[in-house]
Amino acid sequence: MIGLGVMGRNFLLNMADHGFKVIGFDKDNQKTSALESAATAGTTVKGVSSLQDMVNQLAVPRKIMMLVPAGKPVDDVIESLLPLVQKGDIIIDGGNSHFTDTLRRVTYLQAKGIHFMGMGVSGGEQGARTGPSIMPGGDQEAYPHVRPMLEAVAAKVDGVPCVAHLGKGAAGHYVKMVHNGIEYAIMQLICEAYDLLHRGAGLTNDELHTVFDIWNKGDLRSFLIEITADIFLQPDDKTPNRLVDMILDKAGAKGTGKWTSQDAMDLGVPIPTIDMAVAMRNLSALKAERVQASALYPQTTSLVGTPKEQFIQQVHDALLFATIICYAQGLAQLHRAGIDLDMQIPMPQVVSVWRGGCIIRSVLLPTFANAFKANPELSNLLLDAEVAKILNANATGTRAVAAMAIQHGIPAAALLSSLSYFDTYRNKQLPINLLQAQRDYFGAHTYQRIDQEGTFHTEWAKK
Ligand code: 6PG
Repeated sequence: MIGLGVMGRNFLLNMADHGFKVIGFDKDNQKTSALESAATAGTTVKGVSSLQDMVNQLAVPRKIMMLVPAGKPVDDVIESLLPLVQKGDIIIDGGNSHFTDTLRRVTYLQAKGIHFMGMGVSGGEQGARTGPSIMPGGDQEAYPHVRPMLEAVAAKVDGVPCVAHLGKGAAGHYVKMVHNGIEYAIMQLICEAYDLLHRGAGLTNDELHTVFDIWNKGDLRSFLIEITADIFLQPDDKTPNRLVDMILDKAGAKGTGKWTSQDAMDLGVPIPTIDMAVAMRNLSALKAERVQASALYPQTTSLVGTPKEQFIQQVHDALLFATIICYAQGLAQLHRAGIDLDMQIPMPQVVSVWRGGCIIRSVLLPTFANAFKANPELSNLLLDAEVAKILNANATGTRAVAAMAIQHGIPAAALLSSLSYFDTYRNKQLPINLLQAQRDYFGAHTYQRIDQEGTFHTEWAKK
């Protein structure tokens, strides 16, 4: 393992716990000794600060994984490894690299006879230590060499490891990128639900904890709902308040959500909830401007009129509804990318790998898995009958919450865009006939007709 930050260290310790002899490299001596001292008794874990030293001790074909920040550090590691490795060795990038970088590296290393795999790893620090969801892709020839290790360390659901080979080229990193896009969107939706319940219905942190805790026992059960319930109880160690109330409302991002949106635009796949989640982080970052604007556009906050229990149920329905829409959008993107970018992404396996260990694991995944098992070429989850049942059952509550958010001026952009996506997707007639007419009017862009095959242009009569 190259890079013994907390993720690299934990992943390596996890491997050692499963009986593999491992060795970690980091330039920082403190990190190499931290690795050794954290190892479970009886496991074989070495920390070294010379790359050559590490490479020399590995059995061939060497299996070298890196967990370093995306971008230049990955290229630097590759360059420093090249003089030390030999044909047939395997290099794995387990970070959040952009898939186009991964593709470039695959080609570059292929020419030198080195196998390179881009691999998504999800689950944060804890997941890496005890069982992450692992999304490898690329080199089919190399995969059998690393498969036993990856299956050993991955999270297990019903005894099945949450790892599978997820396609050609940069597929592993592509799948992880979209995983993160979905992660951004669900997190934004949870924040909107929090705002609606807190500002809209006056729930205290204790009440919010109880609501999320109850939700986590039902059809919203998921890692993100679970940690959200915990967050409301966390005390602040500097004031008598809860920590959540002391945290500045300004979010950063490392780019994976934005990349998801950027590539969805290139593919022509609509993922508006994910786009909106990225935009909302960007808006949150404009704190100073928002403070200024709040003086110009004062808001009278009144509590929603709906009885509390009923409103909580409606917010639950809306969150469930919109969460499904996020997965539908992300999975539709993966389906299209698998075809258009020739990555041959096996959709049933993607859903299966996400069932455990990752940040977006949820009790919903088995339903999605059934949908893709029944039809591996499903272009959109919304076309599955079981998914349709859940959406139909929760649409009324969703609309009530959306209307309430609008009336009370509580921002719920991801929720509203999920609902708009749904209403657009399920409508067989859209007003886009008029848009086509406009395009043809001013730009002779042509249009198709509903009653005849072909392409038409009209000399529109000016009034
Ligand atoms: C995971 C996470 C992780 C990711 C951040 C995104 O699956 O464990 O997706 O890999 O890097 O959660 O970080 P930002 O929110 O900072 O973009």
